[in-house]
Amino acid sequence: KLEAALAAIAGAQDGDALEAERIAALGKQGWVSALLKTLGGMSPDQRQAEGPRIQALRASVAGAIESRKGELEKAALEQQLASEVQDLTLPAPAAPRGSVHPVSQVMDELAEIFADMGFAVATGPEIEDDWHNFTALNMPESHPARAMHDTFYFPREGAEENSHPASNIGDTPPNGDAVGANTRMLLRTHTSPVQIRSMVAHGAPLRIIAPGRVYRSDSDATHTPMFHQVEGLVIDRGIHLGHLKWTLETFLKAFFERDDIVLRLRPSYFPFTEPSVEVDVGWQDVNANGARRRVLGGDGDAPGHGWMELLGSGMVNARVLEFAGLDPEQWQGFAFGVGVDRLAMLKYGMDDLRAFFDGDGRWLAHYGFGA
Ligand code: PHE
Repeated sequence: KLEAALAAIAGAQDGDALEAERIAALGKQGWVSALLKTLGGMSPDQRQAEGPRIQALRASVAGAIESRKGELEKAALEQQLASEVQDLTLPAPAAPRGSVHPVSQVMDELAEIFADMGFAVATGPEIEDDWHNFTALNMPESHPARAMHDTFYFPREGAEENSHPASNIGDTPPNGDAVGANTRMLLRTHTSPVQIRSMVAHGAPLRIIAPGRVYRSDSDATHTPMFHQVEGLVIDRGIHLGHLKWTLETFLKAFFERDDIVLRLRPSYFPFTEPSVEVDVGWQDVNANGARRRVLGGDGDAPGHGWMELLGSGMVNARVLEFAGLDPEQWQGFAFGVGVDRLAMLKYGMDDLRAFFDGDGRWLAHYGFGA
C-alpha cells in the first residue's frame, strides 16, 4: 500500500492531483489516518511496537508529498521563465524623443550671435521689486507708462489683498530687505530691470544681453500672460545711435541668415531711453513652391514690400544711468528689447503664439523640432 501511494505521489502531474493523493492518505478518511486510529485499540505492548512503525510510515508519505510539491513548483517557475524570456536581439521600439523648444533654441542662437560681438549673458529675478522694474527705469509712481504694462503685483505683506498697489510704491531702492514694507513686489513686465541690476553690480563699461521670461496680464492670439524677451545693453564712452543701428543690423542678419535685412528707425518713446527708436524690418512676399510666403529682407519701401515693427530701443536715458550710479557725463549707452517668441515665430514660420506654451509634441514636430 505504501509503495503504491508513494508512486502515485511521485507521479502526480499537478497541484490538484497531488492534493487528491494527500487527502487519500493523510486526510480524515485517509488510509494512514485510519492506521493511526488503530493504535487506540491496542495493548500497551502492541502499541509500543506498532506506534513507531506507523509514525514512520506517515512521515514518509508526508515527506514524499512535500518533495513532489517542491518539484511541481520548480517546474512551473521554469516554464514561466521560459515563456517570458526577452529576445534581446530584437530592435528596440522607437521611444518618443524630446527636443529643444523653439524659444530655448532662439535664446541659444541669440547668446551665440551676441557672444561673437563681445556680449555676456546677464540674468535677473522674475519676481522683481517695483524700484528695479519701474522707478529706476525713469517711471516714477505717477508715470502713465506704468499703466500700459498690465502688471501682476504681489499683495504687500500684512496688507489687505486688494489694497491699492500705490500704497506700497517702490520709490527708493530696496536696501537688503528686498521684501520690506517699502518694496512692492511684482512679476517683471520686461527684461529692462536687468539693465539696472547689471549696471549696479558691474558698473561700466558693459556689454550684456539678458534673455528671460516676462509677465503681463494679457491674453489673446498674439499675447500670452508669460512671454520671453531679450534685453541688450551697451555702456561705454562715446556710444551713439550708429552703434545701436550697426549692432541690430548685424544681429538680425545673422539671426535670419540673410544679408538683405533692411532696418527702418522711427522716433518713439520709452521712459528709459532718450531718444527712443522703434525698429522696423523690411519684408517681401516670395513664391515658395507655388505658395506666396512673406519673408523678412529687402527694402520695405519697394513695390510689393512692407515694414514690420520688430523691437524697441534707444539711447539709455541719463536719468537711468544716474539711478544705476553711473555718471552720464562719462558714460553713454544704448539698449534694446525684443520679443523672443516673436523672433521664433518669424524665423520658423509659426503663426500661433499660444501653441508655444501648450507643450504639444505634434506641434513641435510639425515645425521640425524633435521626432
Ligand atoms: N522694455 C521695453 C518693452 O518691454 C523694450 C525696450 C527695451 C525699449 C530697451 C527700449 C530699450 O516694451
